[in-house]
Amino acid sequence: MSDTLSVVVVGCGAISRAWLGAVGLQEEVELSALVDIRREAAQRAAQEHDVSDALVETDLEGALRAVRPDVVFNCTVPEAHCPVTLTALQHGCHVLTEKPLSDNMADARRMVEAARREGRMLAVVQNRRYLPQVRALRDFVASGRIGRVTTVQSNFFLGPHFGGFREQMRHVLLVDMAIHTFDAARCMTGADATSVYCHEWNPAGSWYAHGASAVAIFEMTGGIVYTYQGSWCSEGLPTSWEGDWCIIGDKGAVTWDGHDALRAEVVAEQDGFMSRLDEVEVPVPHMETTGHDAVIREFIRCVRTGKRPETAASDNIKSLAMVFGAVESAERGQKVPVDA
Ligand SMILES: NC(=O)c1ccc[n+]([C@@H]2O[C@H](COP(=O)([O-])OP(=O)(O)OC[C@H]3O[C@@H](n4cnc5c(N)ncnc54)[C@H](O)[C@@H]3O)[C@@H](O)[C@H]2O)c1
Repeated sequence: MSDTLSVVVVGCGAISRAWLGAVGLQEEVELSALVDIRREAAQRAAQEHDVSDALVETDLEGALRAVRPDVVFNCTVPEAHCPVTLTALQHGCHVLTEKPLSDNMADARRMVEAARREGRMLAVVQNRRYLPQVRALRDFVASGRIGRVTTVQSNFFLGPHFGGFREQMRHVLLVDMAIHTFDAARCMTGADATSVYCHEWNPAGSWYAHGASAVAIFEMTGGIVYTYQGSWCSEGLPTSWEGDWCIIGDKGAVTWDGHDALRAEVVAEQDGFMSRLDEVEVPVPHMETTGHDAVIREFIRCVRTGKRPETAASDNIKSLAMVFGAVESAERGQKVPVDA
């Protein structure tokens, strides 16, 4: 493998700016081609990011044959994630794809299997994992300070007026956004969901066609119960895009407001009606880089070393299964198993 990895970016819409900005900062990566079924999107991306050397193409196979890249970055819309990824894997490329891995579980499983068969890396940009406060919660829980985790709760209440496709989508909150929050719950606890009961509705006044609000109760491994409450048509007193969190263990609890405030109390002494509690610090790690840039850097490092990325599709599919488990439960009105 040469010092510089050749990369093709497929899908040059809104989110590709975050990717191309990050790629521009990385010396080990050379952008060889920009592909979009809309030529004008690929051309605009090439101009905006000053990459006039890169091939601009509408045909993915043609681009892959022409530049024979090491890596494909898949920034297309969810329904294109599977076909684009399978084509790239067949051409011997490692693939880092935008979330969600796929818009359905059957294709997600095919993608994981294809990567295994081809012996290539496939991972997902689950960028909200790569935030110092999410890392802080994960490390704090793992340190055992609050004992054994029993209960997790997250609230996500925002009122974005996106316009566009989201306002027509079915299950919009669960399918377009909740993957970040569900994946964060797995990251913080190290536990996986085994079942879910979800109630989904579209509140009066919603500017979405379907499913702007949901409450989901997940049973997780280790006996943890995780409750998610969310809405995308909640005006006033918004949470952050990360949501606010409370994690309770048998020796204490920790909260995060989704911004900078992390608080924890642990049992100091239990010999009366209520335990005496000590407030303890939750150390926040220093991170050189966060978000898309951090995921892309880790992926490139893993391609070089053969190490498995944290957001490998074979693991991330367990977060996706929480999304589609919640959708199935909401449609059937009953608790369902969560199967990756
Ligand atoms: N990680 C995050 O925080 C985050 C934020 C926003 C969007 N996203 C995800 O990024 C993805 C793209 O979202 P977006 O907002 O950029 O959408 P977008 O519609 O702005 O851009 C998608 C682009 O993909 C192109 N495209 C579609 N099918 C293609 C195909 N088969 N081959 C080549 N190009 C194709 C479209 O022409 C378009 O230019 C989605 O999966 C979305 O969920 C992630």
